[in-house]
Amino acid sequence: MAEFESSTLAIPRAGDVPRHVAIVMDGNGRWAKARFLPRVAGHRRGVEAVREVVKACIARGVECLTLFAFSSENWRRPKEEVSVLMQLFLKALEQEVGKLHGNGIRFKVIGDLSAFDPVIVDHIRRAEALTAGNARLTLTVAANYGGRWDILQAANRCRAEHPGEEVTEELLSRYLSMHYAPEPDLFIRTGGEERVSNFLLWQLAYAEFHFTPVLWPDFGAEALDEAIASYRSRERRFGRTSEQLASSLPQPKAG
Ligand code: IPE
Ligand code: IPE
Ligand code: MG
Repeated sequence: MAEFESSTLAIPRAGDVPRHVAIVMDGNGRWAKARFLPRVAGHRRGVEAVREVVKACIARGVECLTLFAFSSENWRRPKEEVSVLMQLFLKALEQEVGKLHGNGIRFKVIGDLSAFDPVIVDHIRRAEALTAGNARLTLTVAANYGGRWDILQAANRCRAEHPGEEVTEELLSRYLSMHYAPEPDLFIRTGGEERVSNFLLWQLAYAEFHFTPVLWPDFGAEALDEAIASYRSRERRFGRTSEQLASSLPQPKAG
């Protein structure tokens, strides 16, 4: 397990390149609609954008990339679209996992997998096991994921394993589904919408937010660089003052 790091308990390491980028990949449907194509065409192009962004993240030294692929609320979509998304997910697993492994990528899936076809779950588990030792980039796909689900499942498991114990941030964090990664430094949402849509609610406590009108199928290395440039221009204070940051005094621990 990764060392425990929490942006509210201690000031995280922050450099020019975000260690962890989390993206809400939105706008596939609108991309397709603008071309008089079915929505699925947009989802297909979305998979290509994933390939490009993974490559670009590796080239820029990003350690963790987390992609929101299917939310716990996306089951509300028409049955046919849900089914197409599942098929695309399975196909991508079958076709891409070998390549991910060849490129030294550790692959992870977070979300409530109990609702998924066992064939997909089996592919996921095998892909995670195959790539577990890789360290170049940790690629996490959030599937049937919801931020509230995550906090609740953590609370329930924590209570079951530590009955009667006081729940601390440190203890609860161990049960969150992204316990293996530092918290996101940069949150990106494509497609013009400016909302979190129940993504990593707990983990985004001190993330920098970047919203872009670029639709996900059009998002690539250039758009990622724009997001990183914007990230670099921010002053991440974590509760402190600008003056404290400017002084060379050692930074006090939070709490
Ligand atoms: C994001 O694109 C992909 C998923 C949510 C699965 P959308 O399908 O939400 O595209 P828009 O928002 O309708 O354009
Ligand atoms: C958020 O996109 C979820 C994913 C990208 C997987 P949605 O398109 O589902 O979000 P809302 O419904 O517009 O908030
Ligand atoms: Mg959308």
